[in-house]
Amino acid sequence: MTVIVIAGGLSHERDVSLRSGRRVAQALRDVGREVVETDVNADLVALLKGTPDPVVVPMLHGGLGEDGALREVLGVLGIPFIGPSGAASRLTFDKSIATAVVRAAGIRTPDQIALPHDIFRELGAGALMDGIGAQLGYPLMVKPSRSGSALGVAKVADASDLPASLVAAYAYGPTAVVESYIEGTEIAVTVLDEGEGPYALPAVEIIPVSGVYDYESRYTAGATRFVTPPNLSEASLDAAGALAVAAHRALGLRHLSRIDIIVRDGEPVFLEANVAPGMTETSLAPLAIEAADRTLGNVFAGLIDLVRN
Ligand code: DAL
Ligand code: MG
Repeated sequence: MTVIVIAGGLSHERDVSLRSGRRVAQALRDVGREVVETDVNADLVALLKGTPDPVVVPMLHGGLGEDGALREVLGVLGIPFIGPSGAASRLTFDKSIATAVVRAAGIRTPDQIALPHDIFRELGAGALMDGIGAQLGYPLMVKPSRSGSALGVAKVADASDLPASLVAAYAYGPTAVVESYIEGTEIAVTVLDEGEGPYALPAVEIIPVSGVYDYESRYTAGATRFVTPPNLSEASLDAAGALAVAAHRALGLRHLSRIDIIVRDGEPVFLEANVAPGMTETSLAPLAIEAADRTLGNVFAGLIDLVRN
């Protein structure tokens, strides 16, 4: 068997993906697996078809990876891979759809409005600010509907900042979501399913030094303090773990996901789900794996054996 780690791609998260891919590939080599690392290029299908007994670890973040496109190709080629199906990835990667699915499953989410760029243009900034302000109140969050790593995400304090924040979010795709802002403790719960059903790994609390968990805070060593276990009651942590597993199930995810959560007054609220969570030196899922006394290599090797059997 040969493990093929695919990382890079052409999304805005290319650099993050390369870092994740390198780390996972090394972790798998450390546990004795034969690993080939590749980017997405014209020779990819030939490589996949020419490798005897391949198993793919898709470490692409953002478009082409988390949007399900690559996974659908792997499905057509009949090549086993780690993580959710193309369909589940596509659904989960789009925040406007994922939030609705999770909410329909009875899980608490922020109030959210999806705003395609066409409608933004048609209604005009003035009407929008009035309508959204009346519905959600301020402050609120603006995010691209289909992106990751907090790119294009902004906290909007009042109506005058909303149009510029929306324009910034549209740089990452044609639809933005506007959400009510929830003040609380930010945590991430990594969910693992090694064949016996999904369960929550220890939660990790996120305390960015700058106060905002943006791209810099995510990928600069020392820019964020991670606390495990978080400063929360046992009951809140149990509720957060249960929420993460319920969201993972509702979205049809598989093997490994990371559910981002805000805990307000002890109550967890779903923020988003990550189909291919970051695996860099500053990422959350590897910390959760470590906190569970596991290693990255051991977890990925186990999932590889699971899809191959
Ligand atoms: N989208 C990045 C990789 C993450 O959420 O970890
Ligand atoms: Mg994300």
